[in-house]
Amino acid sequence: MLVLLSFVLPFCTTVWGDTLLIKGGTVVNADHQIRADVLIKDSLIESVGPNLKAPARTRIVDATGKFVMPGGIDPHTHLDAEMGWGSKAEIISTDDFFSGQAAALAGGTTMIIDFALPVDGDLATGFERYKEKAKKSVMDYSFHMAVNTWNEKVSSDMGKLTKEGINSFKFFLAYSGSLAVTDDQLINGFRRSRELGALPIVHCENAAALVDAQQRTFGSGFTGPEGHFISRPAVFEDEGTSRALRLAQYVNVPVYIVHVMSGGAVAEIAAAKTRGQRVIGEAVASGFGADEGKIWDPDFKVAAQYVMSPPIRNKEHQRQIKAGLAGGVLSIIATDHAPFNSTHKRAGLHDFRKIPNGVNGIEERLHVAWDELVRPGLITPSDFVRLVSTAVAQTYNVYPRKGLIAPGSDADIIVFDPEVEHTISASSHHSKMDTNIYEGREVTGKVVVTISQGKVVWENDKLDIKEGAGRFIPLPVGGALFEGLDALDAAYVAANYPYGTPGQPVMRTVGTTA
Ligand code: URP
Ligand code: ZN
Ligand code: ZN
Ligand code: ZN
Repeated sequence: MLVLLSFVLPFCTTVWGDTLLIKGGTVVNADHQIRADVLIKDSLIESVGPNLKAPARTRIVDATGKFVMPGGIDPHTHLDAEMGWGSKAEIISTDDFFSGQAAALAGGTTMIIDFALPVDGDLATGFERYKEKAKKSVMDYSFHMAVNTWNEKVSSDMGKLTKEGINSFKFFLAYSGSLAVTDDQLINGFRRSRELGALPIVHCENAAALVDAQQRTFGSGFTGPEGHFISRPAVFEDEGTSRALRLAQYVNVPVYIVHVMSGGAVAEIAAAKTRGQRVIGEAVASGFGADEGKIWDPDFKVAAQYVMSPPIRNKEHQRQIKAGLAGGVLSIIATDHAPFNSTHKRAGLHDFRKIPNGVNGIEERLHVAWDELVRPGLITPSDFVRLVSTAVAQTYNVYPRKGLIAPGSDADIIVFDPEVEHTISASSHHSKMDTNIYEGREVTGKVVVTISQGKVVWENDKLDIKEGAGRFIPLPVGGALFEGLDALDAAYVAANYPYGTPGQPVMRTVGTTA
């Protein structure tokens, strides 16, 4: 009987071919929506159009009444990250590249760009370490590289890494004593980034002011998680954002501002754009979708999960961030998924400065963004696609391979049902976290199918994933953000030095005085 079964079973299970047809949905790209089917062959989109015919043995995905969109791209995650943010303790973030990406796929994100961290200031060693960690990947991924010091080796490693598919470098103005860079290091980093055509990314908060405010806050008796919030007022973020933008203006380099959490920072970015600067402003889901009041919760476990930097601010800041996204000042929605579970967070039970910084979001990003922005009418479904996917692909030079539903693009696609209501909870999420900052939140609109590399990996609330299936996607330097910078340099010189040219000394005679 056993022998017979094993013989019969392969013929009983459905044998799918290599093609997949998504039928009857509304395809939403960043520039338009259209009723169309999508035919996928292997890992690529073969055609998009009405009433496509399915070749034999094609698996059909019914998308009637639903939106068919490019898979989300989250450009800000910290998986398997060895960091006790702020505490210097060697705490490793809860999700690795397997569990974090499983959660991502369940929430409709099909690619991430994670932050590789240097080892004792060494970029190349840090990158090697992250390549190892990422071998567990279940979907496409890439990296930014953080820079926390400045010397010849850092400069040369930056060059080498751009040849290995890294096209962005992150500089922290915060985290004194571990990651923070000084202004002169930042200027050097900006200049080298510009030379390489790589995008500098900045975490903007004033490091010195933070240390001062943390001491004062702790000293005045606020030792719990609320002390984190009190000691990081918006003015520190506004100042850091302004400084980073002004220094980027000085070097004439495009710049990417991560996790914008204050209305003042939104205004700084708007002002820089008005000056003609090339700025990408990133919002994170927690910055406009999380309950800022919870950091005051009497239960440490509840309050500590909300500790992230810059902190989650009040509804007025959140409104300004949403307005920034709707009005085009902010270009991207990410998460800053830096998951530290309740055991990790207890490191700061008696001192908020030792609570590892970071919140979850990799799985919730699309749901929270849809609920906060599309449902209230602030943005359209096409805007949504642009903010969670297309603009990321364009910024990091992986468009139109990613971020678009069109023939030849990667078949990373989601089917989104705008009518389904569901409740976010740690009891049903796919991250390894034992808490969720959106616990109990009811949202309308759900990713019902996720297709990654042409395969259905999420359907009927179940994942079908394989460790190691993820691919490293090299990101090329240069691109639209870097075009024309030399001409802008010349214009700057003409405007600012009308009577001479820097680099060409004035040949002066020593005049005789009368
Ligand atoms: O609190 C945060 N944001 N943790 C992650 C690290 C960072 O600053 O991006
Ligand atoms: Zn940061
Ligand atoms: Zn981060
Ligand atoms: Zn969900």
